[in-house]
Amino acid sequence: MNLFLIGFMGSGKTAAAKYLHSHHGLTVCETDQEIVCREGKQIAEIFDEYGEEYFRRAETRLLEEISKQDGLVVSCGGCMAMRRENVSLMKGCGRIIYLKAEPQTVFNRLSGSPNVRPLLRGHMNTEYIAGLMEKRRPFYEAASDRVVSVDGKTIMEVGEEIFATIV
Ligand code: S3P
Repeated sequence: MNLFLIGFMGSGKTAAAKYLHSHHGLTVCETDQEIVCREGKQIAEIFDEYGEEYFRRAETRLLEEISKQDGLVVSCGGCMAMRRENVSLMKGCGRIIYLKAEPQTVFNRLSGSPNVRPLLRGHMNTEYIAGLMEKRRPFYEAASDRVVSVDGKTIMEVGEEIFATIV
């Protein structure tokens, strides 16, 4: 049984996974980080040099490997739940938690972040974030077994809410 954290960029999946590791000793896999290690390039470089589709295929390949493992908390890149194939892989080996954030929360967290998301380059404003989020929301909702709202909460509150779903 694995636990998959899905949701929009900046919803706090990575931070929540780190919390679950440091406070509850859970083993974490960060899909973006894993792909960066494997490719030896940053996400933005992978997008620029090979294109988005290449990155999406790398995500699916990684999920195929993860699905053979057990007991992981997997912090997923923001688009992981958009592919039906990925959702089947996740559902087949674990539970999916959707970290739900308002566009303003995402903007506040990402506008100062050094980790520039390729899909938000040149579009760092709440209107654009809200539009993209609206397109993705049905996928996140359909994929998830549980929704955790993150707005106005600390990492600890979100982490404990997630932890409560597994104990
Ligand atoms: C993406 C989200 C990013 C990363 C890539 C694409 C997306 O991950 O996988 O930049 O399409 O939502 P985070 O959600 O961890 O920022």
